[in-house]
Amino acid sequence: MRRTFGIDAYSLYVPRLYVDLTQEWCAVRAPQLGIGSPDLLRGKLVAGIGIRKMAVADGHEDAATMAAMAAKQLIDATGIDPSDIELLSVGTETTVDQSKSIAAYVLGMLERHYGKSLRHVGTPQVQFACIGATYALESAVNHLRAGENTRPYAIVIATDISKYRLRSPGEYTQGAGAVAMLVSESPRLLALDPGVVGTATRDARDFFRPNWSRTATVDGKHSIDVYLSCLEDALREHLDRAGARRGLEPGIASVRQLLAEFDSFLFHVPFPRMAEYAAARVFRLMWEGSESHGERMRELAAGLAPDDTRELEKRLMKTDFFRAHFERTVAPSLELPGEIGNVYSASLYLAFASMTDAARRDGVDLTGRRVLLCSYGSGASAKVFSGTVGPEWKRVAARHYGTELRPVSEGGRRIAISVAEYERLHEHEEVVASAEAANGAGEEIVLVGPPPSVHPPRDEFVLQRLGRLSTPELTDHGYRYYQYLSNDGAGEQEVA
Ligand code: HMG
Repeated sequence: MRRTFGIDAYSLYVPRLYVDLTQEWCAVRAPQLGIGSPDLLRGKLVAGIGIRKMAVADGHEDAATMAAMAAKQLIDATGIDPSDIELLSVGTETTVDQSKSIAAYVLGMLERHYGKSLRHVGTPQVQFACIGATYALESAVNHLRAGENTRPYAIVIATDISKYRLRSPGEYTQGAGAVAMLVSESPRLLALDPGVVGTATRDARDFFRPNWSRTATVDGKHSIDVYLSCLEDALREHLDRAGARRGLEPGIASVRQLLAEFDSFLFHVPFPRMAEYAAARVFRLMWEGSESHGERMRELAAGLAPDDTRELEKRLMKTDFFRAHFERTVAPSLELPGEIGNVYSASLYLAFASMTDAARRDGVDLTGRRVLLCSYGSGASAKVFSGTVGPEWKRVAARHYGTELRPVSEGGRRIAISVAEYERLHEHEEVVASAEAANGAGEEIVLVGPPPSVHPPRDEFVLQRLGRLSTPELTDHGYRYYQYLSNDGAGEQEVA
């Protein structure tokens, strides 16, 4: 029997705080952005961007605490023994230290929490914008496939807090969250197809964050074009590889056949409309010249230059046949992203969580579904790969995140914050440069530490403080101390 490897289970962690972009935020920002009325801005966000709310990390949270929360939830839900973990990899682009891997911080948090030594676990951090966690997943799966492991499980965590400047067009595409995935042999959730990953990379300047900046710099419209062309390149390579493994003649017929076999398409979702643009790119390749839709596609292309693919795709997005296929194969994966925002490296896996969440709610059986996964990171790289949902998916994906993401007043766990509270958290600097150095001889770095929390932490890992010492006995200036606060707010013993 063929051995399978892939994602056995996942856990999603989303900070409790959020900004409802359709309410006070719209009223405050519309005049600041020169948009005629809050209603116009609301319409743009909901219909044009596809977003309603964005998750915001509280003062005690960062990419490491969110990663540790997602890992803890995963370990508790699956009941695995932490000693059975071979590898703990983190994909992130919002790291907390320029040297130390977030995975090592997470390892420390888990060791203290479970009272187990994890000293033989490998803990790399993989960075490449939003695609880092996919590179980490690929490497973890290959590690197990190659039989290099002495323990059965790898945990891959995608964790990020996306930040753009206030009042910039990126602001309403921010978010925060982490997804932890248990990778194993004979996975219950998603068995990944071997030998078919399509990869495309180019040296692009569409989006980046210099070392000195807390917020990303992005050329918004250009970033969309780079996303789409990298996606297409990686997709073509994936289809070539998948076709060759099946013995299909290379060419457009096999492209159509292979794409038509997918039941679900998952994309990197910086904002839900982007997944619609991506779906239009994929569906165009599937339908152009096809028996079923070729005639309609030719009608849509009338009067367009042959290379005006974006305009053709915009026309395609408005057709009934696009909308029907999109609603069935993509839309369920966009529900949670529309409530959370861009979680960068976790975004593709949030889309997966959204698909399973919606299927459980709607009574849809995903067993045996063929899924195409399209990962993308600016700067820029895309990977396209595929898998099949296992028969036990419902038991494994048992938590209902849609319900948990409701506000506290509606039985969920989320807390809406005001624009003023959000801006205070957004603008907080852990470190500031002070012109008043001790001897007046230039600038001095002053450690401020994390901002005060909006909601007091309970039952969670927290960033407790930054170290401040630089003495012969102890040097920890800037080191991050984490601990788990229990339900009564009591912390563990601090371990340096
Ligand atoms: P913008 O200027 O806010 O929006 O930029 P726009 O003016 O281009 O309008 C967007 C859509 O809203 C358009 O729809 C408008 O027509 C529509 P379309 O023509 O495309 O179908 N619209 C309205 N609809 C209804 N009612 C209205 C209304 N007004 C307008 N009243 C942009 C949007 C995404 C560029 C901006 O938010 C941005 O720069 N975001 C950050 C960058 C980003 O997310 N890029 C995505 C691709 S790159 C990527 O995904 C990687 C990333 O995740 C990072 C990483 O990899 O690390 C970002």
